[in-house]
Amino acid sequence: MAITGIDRITYGVEDMASAQRFFTDWGLKPLTTEAEHLLFSTQDGSQIEVCKLDNPELAPAFETGSTLREVIWGVESQADVDALVAKLKSHPEVPQVAARDGIERFIDPNGMCIGFRVSERHHAPVKGSVMNTYDRPDARIDERSTVYDRAEPVKVGHVVFFAPNLEQTEQFYRELLGFQVSDRYPHRGVFLRCNPAGGHHDMFLLRVSETRRGVNHVAFTVRDIHEVFGGGLHISRCGWKTQIGPGRHPISSAYFWYVNNPCGGLAEYYSDEDYLTADWQPKEDWVTCNENYAEWAINGGVDGHTRRQYLPE
Ligand SMILES: [Fe+2]
Repeated sequence: MAITGIDRITYGVEDMASAQRFFTDWGLKPLTTEAEHLLFSTQDGSQIEVCKLDNPELAPAFETGSTLREVIWGVESQADVDALVAKLKSHPEVPQVAARDGIERFIDPNGMCIGFRVSERHHAPVKGSVMNTYDRPDARIDERSTVYDRAEPVKVGHVVFFAPNLEQTEQFYRELLGFQVSDRYPHRGVFLRCNPAGGHHDMFLLRVSETRRGVNHVAFTVRDIHEVFGGGLHISRCGWKTQIGPGRHPISSAYFWYVNNPCGGLAEYYSDEDYLTADWQPKEDWVTCNENYAEWAINGGVDGHTRRQYLPE
């Protein structure tokens, strides 16, 4: 009953117009643009849905204001859906809410609504630029590497939540849904992946206080490092504010760029994360410090017009 990744996420927002403008600038493909319902997709068919935050079909929010309201995980078959639903139903302590779009929904210990469906994602027919390295100086011959005008995210890669009840939420995802630990900040954060083989994490749970619950960010995979830069520069030109980026995480190895999202939390472009298998040994004792968060990073981003760091005001 392996989960294969994030199939659909749903935001509940105060301002539908800002949400539509942001995700269009972000590079998502619009599928539905109604006054109170937006649906976008990435290149692999991952879906990003936006509703008004007081939409009665949404489960209760886990924080006030615009935020993420639902994560639908993709699986391979209907038998997998049935097995996961049966598993959760056999645990009466797991709250269930009314089904929506034919998907049975539950509430995880952190208050996030989740469900499962047979994945509607597909392999996107796109390629990243090949890097010429010292040992492979001719990996890319007679070909410039791409300069992107803007990003077109390939998929929804991971979600990150503030989870005050970190241990309980980790236990739920590991014991009931089969997630595995990839790395850990003891008592502070845990990187989880839904499959033994795959990207470094599909979910990161972070405890910043005894009470803070909510969405930290949703990460969108792009083709390569150059698309992280091209996407970040474009979103800056559109007037959206970078929190931090570009930069690089030592944990997962990925290049990142984080932007304030009017739908809640941050949106991240990222590329070149570690690919793990069942042989991976998690490091369970990462120390919380600046250098473990970012090898390097630019606070506030880069001006998309001048292509230089923003000057202090
Ligand atoms: Fe991330």
